[in-house]
Amino acid sequence: MLYNYFMIGKIILKSGSVSKRTKVVQISDSHLIVADKNDGDLYKIEKERKLFFERESLARTGEVRYAEEELSEAVEYSKNADLTVFTGDIVEFATETNVNRMMEYFDRCGDYLYTFGNHDYLIWWNSGETAESQYEKNSGMFKKRIKNDLSFAVKKVNGVNMVVMDNSRFQFDESQYENLKRVLSEDDDAILFMHIPLYHPDIDKIGQKKVGQIADACGGDYDLLSPHAPDATTKKTIELIKQNHRKVLAIMTGHNHFEAQTVWYENIIESVCAPTYLHYFNEIEILPI
Ligand SMILES: [Fe+2]
Repeated sequence: MLYNYFMIGKIILKSGSVSKRTKVVQISDSHLIVADKNDGDLYKIEKERKLFFERESLARTGEVRYAEEELSEAVEYSKNADLTVFTGDIVEFATETNVNRMMEYFDRCGDYLYTFGNHDYLIWWNSGETAESQYEKNSGMFKKRIKNDLSFAVKKVNGVNMVVMDNSRFQFDESQYENLKRVLSEDDDAILFMHIPLYHPDIDKIGQKKVGQIADACGGDYDLLSPHAPDATTKKTIELIKQNHRKVLAIMTGHNHFEAQTVWYENIIESVCAPTYLHYFNEIEILPI
C-alpha cells in the first residue's frame, strides 16, 4: 500500500441535502505520456515532455515521479470513494495511444465523471490550428470511450448533485448555462467540477507565492483584449453560480499546477487541485449538517 506517501488535499464540506457521509476523489492533470514511435514528429517532443515532467517532480517534490505510477495509485485510492471525478489534462497529448492507456486506468475505477482539460484535445506544438478545430478533430477519441457527456453532466450522489462542466476553452455555452440552471433549481446542494479555475484575486496571489505565476483563469475581465475574456454567456453562468451560492458548496478545478483554496463567493469554496504527476489529488468529504 503506497497511499501514505501521497499528498492528499482534504476538503471537508457540510451539506443540508447529503443523506450520509460521502467521499469524492478528484484527480487532475496527470499529463500522461506514452511516447509512441508511430506518432511521427510528436515522438521526439513526447520524450522531451516526459523528461520535463519528471524533472519538475524532482524539483518540486524531491523525488522523480512518473505520471502513470501516480495516476495508478490515485485511481487505486479512489476505489473507496462514492465517486471519482477527473478534471482534465489526464493526457498530455491527444493521441490514440495516450487515450487508450488512460482508459486502462479508468477501467479500474468505480463510478466516475470526466471533464475536458485543454491538453485532452490540443496538440500544442501544432500551432497552425485553432483550439476549435483541434477540439473537433480530437475530442471524438474521448467521446467514444467515456460514458458521460463531456460538456455537461450531473450525477446525484447521496443527495448532492455532482456537476462536471467543460470550460477548457475558457468559456461556457448556452446549453451549459441552461443545464446548470435546471440543476440549481432543485433543492439539493451541488459541487461543480471544471478544469479551469473561476477567476479570484486570491488564486493569483497564491500562484505568485507558490510558483511565481498568476493563475490562468476563466471569467477574469480585467483584460478585455485577451481571448480568455468572458463572453456574455460565460458572465451570466458565473452570475448564476453566485446567485445560487447557498446550494453550491464548492468549485473544484485544476489546470494551474499548484494547489490553492479560497472563499470564491460568500460560502462557496474554490479549490485548485495540484497535478497528479506531482503526487497529489483531492479527497472531498461531505458531511450532513
Ligand atoms: Fe494541466
